[in-house]
Amino acid sequence: MASTSEQTTCETMNSEKYADVNWDELGFSPIPTDYMFVMKCSEGENFLQGNLTPFGNIELSPSATILNTGQGIFEGLKAYRREDDRITLFRPEQNAIRMKMGAERMCMPSPSTEQFVDAVKQTVLANKRWVPPPGKGSLYVRPLLMGSGSAIGVVPAPEYTFLIYTSPVGNYYKGDTSLNVIVEEKFRRAIPSGAGGVKAITNYAPIFQAVTQAKTKGFSDVLFLDAKTGRNVEELSLCNIFIVKVEERVIPVEDLMDADEVFCTGTAVVVNSVGSITYQGKRVEYKTGVESVSQKLYATLTGIQMGRIEDKMGWTVEV
Ligand code: COI
Repeated sequence: MASTSEQTTCETMNSEKYADVNWDELGFSPIPTDYMFVMKCSEGENFLQGNLTPFGNIELSPSATILNTGQGIFEGLKAYRREDDRITLFRPEQNAIRMKMGAERMCMPSPSTEQFVDAVKQTVLANKRWVPPPGKGSLYVRPLLMGSGSAIGVVPAPEYTFLIYTSPVGNYYKGDTSLNVIVEEKFRRAIPSGAGGVKAITNYAPIFQAVTQAKTKGFSDVLFLDAKTGRNVEELSLCNIFIVKVEERVIPVEDLMDADEVFCTGTAVVVNSVGSITYQGKRVEYKTGVESVSQKLYATLTGIQMGRIEDKMGWTVEV
């Protein structure tokens, strides 16, 4: 926790219900909030106790492994404000479980599920005034786990930091209600037995070139194909892709070009219709709009998250 006097000042200053934000203009850019959560531990030990501290820059040695070998993973989840002002999370324990898997792959200790969920709740509560009004967006919660200790060789760090910060967000693809996607034919994203299955920080920067080029050509995003065959659909730059059929299987790109409807999902994008896909110069268009399956799924998912539809699965967790 911040020191008692520091905390009292912040609480007094921050006692208003909402922070001074233009909630109608929210996109997906970072807005600094009041507090972040920080917890450290040494290699070979377990995380024990973390603290809320005022949001700000962190100090790292230039030889910290996160900066040199990319020893780090992250998570993303959202807190929602309901009409009755209750704040809820959506399946936060699943983020904790995924972080644990990623930590094992990247040779790092990880917080327990309880520590993770408790830290998320503390961070959200401390930043409550930044949770947008119902219907205006959500508070994006970004847990990071990183090697913060020094190593100049290719070895795991002697110290680790688990940090959570938040930012109010609106739609990821602001204004893009249906996406125009291009299939990426040169770059691949994840390789068999690689780290594509975990949320390693190093999975993201290598896609910037493809996405930036696609955006200069007017596309909303890029669809990656699998590295082994270059024929099967994998994922967009930050979300999963679905063809409207209730079947979980490998999808050859030809099936995608024959589909009636396509959509993508992720914490950041929620559920977003894909309006078109361009592959080898051929563009196909898909069903979008209120009658589409993706819009029905969007309404159901956000209805459960916002408490408008009964949560029969026990997915929502009150903060
Ligand atoms: C998600 O929404 O699941 C993501 O990973 C997106 C994030 C990288 C912005």
